[in-house]
Amino acid sequence: MRYEVVLPAAGSGKRMGAGQNKLFLTLVDKPILVHTLLVFESDENCSGIWLAVKDEERAFVQSLLANYNITKVKGLPTGGAERQHSVHSCIKEMQAVEVVLVHDAARPFITLPTITELTNVAYRKGAAIAGVHAKDTMKVVEHGLIKETVDRESLWMIQTPQAFRFDLLAQAEDVAEKVGFLGTDEAMLVERLGHDIHIVESSYENVKMTTQEDLIFGEAILNRRKQ
Ligand code: C5P
Repeated sequence: MRYEVVLPAAGSGKRMGAGQNKLFLTLVDKPILVHTLLVFESDENCSGIWLAVKDEERAFVQSLLANYNITKVKGLPTGGAERQHSVHSCIKEMQAVEVVLVHDAARPFITLPTITELTNVAYRKGAAIAGVHAKDTMKVVEHGLIKETVDRESLWMIQTPQAFRFDLLAQAEDVAEKVGFLGTDEAMLVERLGHDIHIVESSYENVKMTTQEDLIFGEAILNRRKQ
């Protein structure tokens, strides 16, 4: 199933504390952003990449695309104040496609089998998101006290990619914009429309490079994959 992917890359990476966009940090041999781009560049089902970027970083991103021979990028719209706005700026510029994936540029370890499964489920059912079972015991804490222990069996940690029929995501984003709803992922916007969203079990390796220790996990994953 062919698809296009939106990669929000316009964050500031404050939690990484690197003093620059964390996506430009080198992981083993290449910037994090390039690792992510190369996954989609190598996928024959991916027919286009949309990157939301900061205006002042667009020229640098374009130099990375040229240096690493990334050819599938169709547009580099300006990102917004929140991740959701960055994704929306891409969706607004895209021509309608059958299936669109949204994937954090900061998750460089996504694999092609997961992408393919997400795309196929979204094509058949409308919406599919990647996630993994919660590993730890989960409790609700209020004012420093345990309020409740939640049944772990039904709890999933949600990642990206999140895959949707294009029309469904575009409609969900328009509605969210109109009513001023801000979600932490795209699925929340689609949930508000009452549409079913399917889970695709992903991998604990699909970690988002967020804080310094994630870089240590990330280097270990890359080095093991190289062996
Ligand atoms: O900050 P966090 O890692 O959760 O952001 C997830 C992804 O969204 C990153 O790839 C980041 O660059 C992107 N982002 C964005 N625009 C924002 C905030 C985050 O494109 N305003």
